[in-house]
Amino acid sequence: MHAGHFSFSFCAIAWIALASGMAGCSYNTEQPCSDRTATYNASVAAIFNAQCAGCHGGENPEAGLALDNYPSSVDAVLSGDVIDRITRETDDALVMPPNGSFQICDIALIEQWAEAGAPE
Ligand code: HEC
Repeated sequence: MHAGHFSFSFCAIAWIALASGMAGCSYNTEQPCSDRTATYNASVAAIFNAQCAGCHGGENPEAGLALDNYPSSVDAVLSGDVIDRITRETDDALVMPPNGSFQICDIALIEQWAEAGAPE
């Protein structure tokens, strides 16, 4: 449950990538990484619902992992499992979501959320 080893490195990487025009970030103008509030209700729920809950939700979630509610999402993120999967290379067989389409700013936000102790 110790979240202290997470860093904000992804936001820095996102900004460097943006500045050099190397990687797309869907929030680059209206909602830069740093302007979103990293709480479950403000941002994390929407990301998980859009990117994860289609498989990790409902009656029979993939791998028994539900990412469509707060308590289960907190456990999965603070355990390190979610960060491990979303930070893999896009061609890694274990990357989540499986098509590797996760935005770098969303990864940064999930890391910030973990760093803050996954507030609701
Ligand atoms: C298209 C369906 C699909 C989507 C979308 C998806 N997953 Fe998965 N996920 C799976 C499947 C299938 C497994 C089990 C196989 C494996 O471990 O890779 C899995 C496994 C996992 C595991 C390991 C769980 C465990 O206890 O072994 C984590 C963590 C995870 N997903 C996180 C996420 C996150 C976070 C997202 C959204 C960013 C996401 N997944 C989106 C299908 C999906």
